[in-house]
Amino acid sequence: MHSSTEPAVRFVEVVKTFGGADQCHRVLDQVSFSIPKGMTTVIAGGSGQGKSVILKLVLGLLRPDAGSILVGGQDVPKLGYKALQQVRMRFGVLFQGAALFDSLTVFENIALPLRERTRLDEGGIREKVEQTLDQLELGGHGQKYPAQLSGGMKKRVGLARALQLEPEIVLYDEPTTGLDPVMTREIYDLFARTQQRLGYTAIIVSHDIPQVFELADQIILLNRGELDVFGRVEEIAYSRKPFIREFAEKTMGLPTPGRI
Ligand SMILES: Nc1ncnc2c1ncn2[C@@H]1O[C@H](COP(=O)(O)OP(=O)(O)OP(=O)(O)O)[C@@H](O)[C@H]1O
Ligand SMILES: [Mg+2]
Repeated sequence: MHSSTEPAVRFVEVVKTFGGADQCHRVLDQVSFSIPKGMTTVIAGGSGQGKSVILKLVLGLLRPDAGSILVGGQDVPKLGYKALQQVRMRFGVLFQGAALFDSLTVFENIALPLRERTRLDEGGIREKVEQTLDQLELGGHGQKYPAQLSGGMKKRVGLARALQLEPEIVLYDEPTTGLDPVMTREIYDLFARTQQRLGYTAIIVSHDIPQVFELADQIILLNRGELDVFGRVEEIAYSRKPFIREFAEKTMGLPTPGRI
């Protein structure tokens, strides 16, 4: 049994390197953090700092060199194929570009996980997909193909598909790439409303700073293998680390204390 205060995901002293002994690149250097249940955690940091690597480790698509990655108390890198498949069923994933199937309609794209992973009959599938289409303001677009949709609509279809199996945890990797600022804001508003209604744990990797911080209950900043966790945006400006104070000034326009 796990208590409700147990985090959705926990990293304990995780090390991840790439390359051989001669050119070893340590992307994560003994990082530890917890992702609390039912909340939104934003992971930020410069390009190539390991944000996507963290998501891939969570899903067991990459293996760490050391440390534990706990999902619901299970250590993901230690799981066999079947148990790993079970753990993956808990996740909804929305990667960059939404990755829709161009030859399938919106309806069929959203129905896909239900057809592959459940025994719902055609009537049950129709009911569930229509309901999600309405929830994500896509009603009436079910018979369109991805090429006929705007960028924001594609992202919404991607989210609709990610939510079909009622995931406990939703992972977003750069979910607003290619959208204009207005659409970006609309998508984040929709994410916030959907997360509040369904109560899942959200992990968002994003460059949309500071907008995305408005959604965050927790912020993780990654830099050169190190990781810092903040409960509130304002705390970022009070960090002792020069790199983080600089980040706060440059990307968020926050005045850092001591320089006023
Ligand atoms: N499969 C891999 N093989 C070798 N190196 C990899 C692999 N995956 C990631 N890396 C390296 O790990 C580092 C972190 O990559 P990652 O994709 O997590 O960056 P990121 O923070 O998501 O960057 P971006 O914001 O550009 O998406 C990079 O230096 C990358 O080259
Ligand atoms: Mg990435």
